Amino acid sequence: MKVLICASAADAIARAARQVVATIAAKPGAALGLATGATFAPVYAALVAAHRAGEVSFARVASFNLDEYVGLPAAHPQSYRSEMRRMLFDHVDIDPARAHLPDGNAADPDAEAARYDRAIAAAGGIDLQLLGLGVNGHIGFNEPSSSLGSRTRTKDLAPPTIAANRRFFPAGEEPPRQSITMGVATIMEARDILLLATGAAKAAALRATVEGPVTAFCPASALQFHPRVTVLCDEAAASGLALMDYYRGIDHGD
Ligand code: GLP
Repeated sequence: MKVLICASAADAIARAARQVVATIAAKPGAALGLATGATFAPVYAALVAAHRAGEVSFARVASFNLDEYVGLPAAHPQSYRSEMRRMLFDHVDIDPARAHLPDGNAADPDAEAARYDRAIAAAGGIDLQLLGLGVNGHIGFNEPSSSLGSRTRTKDLAPPTIAANRRFFPAGEEPPRQSITMGVATIMEARDILLLATGAAKAAALRATVEGPVTAFCPASALQFHPRVTVLCDEAAASGLALMDYYRGIDHGD
């Protein structure tokens, strides 16, 4: 893993956006794996700004989001499809037909999950997978104890995840308890992976991801087996890392 400790969250966000722009510059028809969540909102804002400045076009890009809630109408403001439209899709030139999310309302969620894996394969696989990090070490919605060999499937959300998501729902409205998420093995097939973690709340999970044992108890730790992972973090998220000086030494810029 290439662990890059940035001076600020803003630096980490700008660097993440630059890697996306560079990926599309090298391959205009790239397939991007996208993440939702608060961490990536400013990355998408930076990409919208880059698009408006004429620095990047999504016209030939395909995208596959990591996950979607089960049972939330697609038009619900907190569905991940709505979130992605607000943050990115409605503001860039991506073809909506190539901006994929699992269908959390599919009559047969298992068939939908299998279809999603096939669609990723049909697009030639994911060139760059963006990942946020759950406070419990989840990636996508692969909660602790998820099989490290898992494919896209339905997954019950863990109590800390439901609690963390509660802030996005109005008082009295229960957040969803189930998702369709890319599996850990699905994620591991991406050619490049960029994990972004900012803020002190992610410090313990980041340490477990980078320096802990590989364990289903921290699904993000499976990334240790991937040859091309960049971890971008700020000082607060990095604060639990033991080899901080080493990571700083190997950072030679973009
Ligand atoms: C959510 C999403 C993940 C996201 C993570 C972190 O539950 N399913 O894809 O990366 O948790 O979210 P945040 O960036 O808001 O901390």
